Amino acid sequence: MGAAKKINRDIGFGPLPDKIFDKLNQLAYQHCGVTIKSDKKFLFQTRINRRLRDLKFSSYEQYCGYIFSAEGKDEVKYLIDVVTTHTTYFFREANQFEFLTSDVIPELVSNMDKTQNRKLNIWSSACSTGEEAYTLSIVFNEYLKENPNVGFNYNILGTDVSEVVVEQAQRGIYPIESLKPLDIEMKRKYFMRGKGKASGYVKTSPELQMNTKFKTLNFFQKNFGFENKFDVIFCRNVIIYFNREDQIKVLNRLCDNLRKGGYLFMGHTESLANFDLPVERIGPTVYRRL
Ligand SMILES: C[S@@+](CC[C@H](N)C(=O)[O-])C[C@H]1O[C@@H](n2cnc3c(N)ncnc32)[C@H](O)[C@@H]1O
Repeated sequence: MGAAKKINRDIGFGPLPDKIFDKLNQLAYQHCGVTIKSDKKFLFQTRINRRLRDLKFSSYEQYCGYIFSAEGKDEVKYLIDVVTTHTTYFFREANQFEFLTSDVIPELVSNMDKTQNRKLNIWSSACSTGEEAYTLSIVFNEYLKENPNVGFNYNILGTDVSEVVVEQAQRGIYPIESLKPLDIEMKRKYFMRGKGKASGYVKTSPELQMNTKFKTLNFFQKNFGFENKFDVIFCRNVIIYFNREDQIKVLNRLCDNLRKGGYLFMGHTESLANFDLPVERIGPTVYRRL
């Protein structure tokens, strides 16, 4: 028994049967709209193997039985994490943040009613581990420091379907190398270096954390539950994983939550040219709500 277990640990659980691959893929699709293409099956198998070991299961069949049972219903959150891609980094597609500072923030601020509560609502949807949301927070902080008389507040909300990455985003702890795109002054201002066991890591400063909140949100859930519309929405590098029908659904829901005159930023490969949406293109992958 001990020897058999050891062999499993060393060589994995063998090839994942197509039937189980399809069933798990289908379950993932129902929950988040993402599936793993068959050419990535091996990657999926490796990740599922890891999960089987953690749960001390001895076969794929056992795992499949568990995830479809009432007892295993919470396991879906790990399956979602297995099928989704979380690649992200600080100041990804940096030109978009430059455009935000040079054009978008000044325009939004100048259109604000002088008498109302001057607050901008920003949404980093599909935020993964939080780098995009914290980058936005840095950009808004810098803008306010350089323009102390404009007088407005901002809230940044980061959301993602994966609970695992949302928890990481909330912690705001990153390997020190992830700060490479930032200049020295920004590193000092916005991150605290870990000591002892935490050396090699940084934590986002209270100043960044104050205006940046995170929660789980699935683009396909019934109700997003937002009280107010957003002034800016970032939805980058996620719709590429959805089929066309789901892309249309998600993009329309984003537009419903963007106020007129608000801005939608997409990933650099995600043009909205072939979608019939209430937005106008104002730059490469930057759109304004009509
Ligand atoms: C490649 S990351 C993009 C991160 C960041 N926006 C960027 O561009 O750097 C894609 C993220 O989309 C999330 N995602 C996938 N399906 C989703 C869904 N149905 N609802 C919300 N987020 C989803 C994944 O969990 C993943 O963290």
